[in-house]
Amino acid sequence: MSANPPQIPAVDPDDIGYNKTSNPSFSQLIEGRLSRRNLFGLGVGSASVALLQACGGGGSNGFVPIAPAPAPNPAPAPAPGPAPAPAPAAAKLGFNAVPKSLADVVTVPAGYTATVLYRLGDPIASGVPAYLNDGTDAPETFDRRAGDHHDGMTFFGIDASNKWAPQAADRGLLVMNHEAITPLFLHPAGQTIVGTGNAAVRSVAGEVQREFFVHGVSVIDVAKEGSTWSYKPGSSLNRRVHTLTEMAFSGPAAKTDYLKTKYSSDGSKTRGTVNNCANGTTPWGTYLACEENWAGYFRRIAANDNPNRSAKEIAAFTRYGVAGTGRELWATVTPDTADNQYGRWNCELVTSAADATADYRNGANTYGWVVEIDPFAPASTPKKRTALGRFGHEGACLGPVVVGKPLVWYMGDDAQNEYLYKFVSTRNWDAADVGGGIASGDKYMDDGKLYVARFNADGSGDWLELALGVNGITAANTAYAFNDAAEVLINTRLAADAARATKMDRPEWTAVNPKNGEIYLTLTNNSARAVTGTDAANPRSYNDPKGAAQTAQKGNPNGHVVRFADADGNPAATRFKWDVYLFGARSTAAADVNLSGLVADNDFSSPDGMWFSSVTPGLLWLQTDDGKYTDVTNCMMLAALPGQVGDGAAKTITNVDGAVSATQATFVGKAPGTDGLRRFLVGPKDCEITGIAESGDGRAIFVNIQHPGETTAAASITDPAKFGSHWPEGGTARPRSATVVITRDDGGLIGL
Ligand code: FEO
Ligand code: CA
Ligand code: CA
Repeated sequence: MSANPPQIPAVDPDDIGYNKTSNPSFSQLIEGRLSRRNLFGLGVGSASVALLQACGGGGSNGFVPIAPAPAPNPAPAPAPGPAPAPAPAAAKLGFNAVPKSLADVVTVPAGYTATVLYRLGDPIASGVPAYLNDGTDAPETFDRRAGDHHDGMTFFGIDASNKWAPQAADRGLLVMNHEAITPLFLHPAGQTIVGTGNAAVRSVAGEVQREFFVHGVSVIDVAKEGSTWSYKPGSSLNRRVHTLTEMAFSGPAAKTDYLKTKYSSDGSKTRGTVNNCANGTTPWGTYLACEENWAGYFRRIAANDNPNRSAKEIAAFTRYGVAGTGRELWATVTPDTADNQYGRWNCELVTSAADATADYRNGANTYGWVVEIDPFAPASTPKKRTALGRFGHEGACLGPVVVGKPLVWYMGDDAQNEYLYKFVSTRNWDAADVGGGIASGDKYMDDGKLYVARFNADGSGDWLELALGVNGITAANTAYAFNDAAEVLINTRLAADAARATKMDRPEWTAVNPKNGEIYLTLTNNSARAVTGTDAANPRSYNDPKGAAQTAQKGNPNGHVVRFADADGNPAATRFKWDVYLFGARSTAAADVNLSGLVADNDFSSPDGMWFSSVTPGLLWLQTDDGKYTDVTNCMMLAALPGQVGDGAAKTITNVDGAVSATQATFVGKAPGTDGLRRFLVGPKDCEITGIAESGDGRAIFVNIQHPGETTAAASITDPAKFGSHWPEGGTARPRSATVVITRDDGGLIGL
């Protein structure tokens, strides 16, 4: 028995592409139907609608009226709390930029304080001992401890009767995802693995039990006393949702053959959620956890399994990347439990039974969904909402909320060359459903239309409906024959391929600007974007040499942010216009790389987390998950005050890779300058900054610091001096993912 290297993937799992379609680049598309002038005359307006924005998180969490409402009865704030201090009429960034840094600390601007609130392993129930952080904490306690790899997060303000009070300034339920693990620091000496290759097995069940529990979601009761925020370890509202939590399916794919397993003979339920990355909210006060890199957790040795599978099944596994030993080898623990806690992660067809209820051959179909959790009902069963499709869900950002209109969620699929989606509810929003919990979800999230985006070369875009019988999604589709409606939702990526959606540079978070309803999408990077394969919305391919050795980093290593406006200010519209708001780059990069004119105070790489403040309309927070600019700086968070689609200009750039060059036309948003974009925070070593939420008064923000020190070599576990980070405890401690709360020393609004 030996302690093998941890299962840290050699590459970021979402840096792997499974989209082998020949969907066109923009450069290959036919001439756009609209001229640029006509496009911007689409009438995409902002002043003519009442927007109640509710994306990602925030104290007022979706109930910030933005503009006068011509439509009757805009939704009122459901449970008014203390009125927040009014934001200045014209927001202006009011802090000095934080310099780039390689220090093992969280740095915030002068006049601000960042305090650690909630770390991996912290107890959330009475009787659970304090975390030892040496790998020996009892596995069975981890369902009552903070999980690992804190990610997307929402603050739900609560009142004294434990009801949702969106504008509450002093107390809330902080709900956050725990995306993945740094296994080296979770156990005494990383994962204990016997054997290699397909024969490798996890030999210590307790280690796997820890890992089951530290994935998922936390709900913690946080409050401010005096000027200090803390969480209440004994609150009855605290909850952990993890990979063993029972989940129900709803929507069109529920109770279909595709979701039947040994655990659920009718396809109505599954256990757990995993790799929850960005998040989302609903206007009725629930939380959405999104399943991103779930595919890698399943064991499926293709050589064993493919002979037992249909061509369609193999096509689906291939398109989603369900193949291999499973990244944490969870399926390999023996003996299995009576309820198959380990074996359920093996999605090979292992019995000869004709129906899928004898094994977990459909196990992978039970992941890849948006999961609704009611944080105010700790005993409630989360629901996987199949109507929103199955893919590598980064997040689900709620669009503008208007009484009498459909609800809309925007969703990225984060892998190379994947797509952007939106879901539009059939039912129109009724503010009486606020506080309705999962039952309100049943009303709005189980019935609607799913779309995928096509970005046209002329700056327009189309939402292509994903439904049986439309946009090539038929039995005649050669890559995958669609025969029923549930298949379109189970194999959404294949449906989007058929519809000929636009391959993007890894769609991460979406965010909706409450000032005008425009939607922002981070495209974090794409090493597979060739100079000859760019398009208007993914226009760059270049070499960004890194470090003293000038290691080549090709494709679009630094990422960009696209934004778009649905036509006529109508989120349910099937047309939009777009431009590129911002390009990541080193400030020293060439002009056709540093297209946004970034300088030392605001240059960045690999945008990922992104969220608009609810208290200060128009204030955007941008977070990075970067491995490219890390020779110069750790990951960071920036504050921004963006303009709107079309505030820049059309531009043709030249992409160069060695002797190969090509031109690409695109639309570049107005350069932000340091008044429009400024670095607010730099994290500790080897971390990603991801997840942000805001107290109801905008005077505290919560930010997650994920996986500090994650690239620590396995052999260094016995030598703390070689740990990649010791944050947050310092000294010789093992690093821990954690939430920090940031306040202004004078009690003012954050960022202004
Ligand atoms: Fe989990 Fe796409 O970041
Ligand atoms: Ca992310
Ligand atoms: Ca990322």
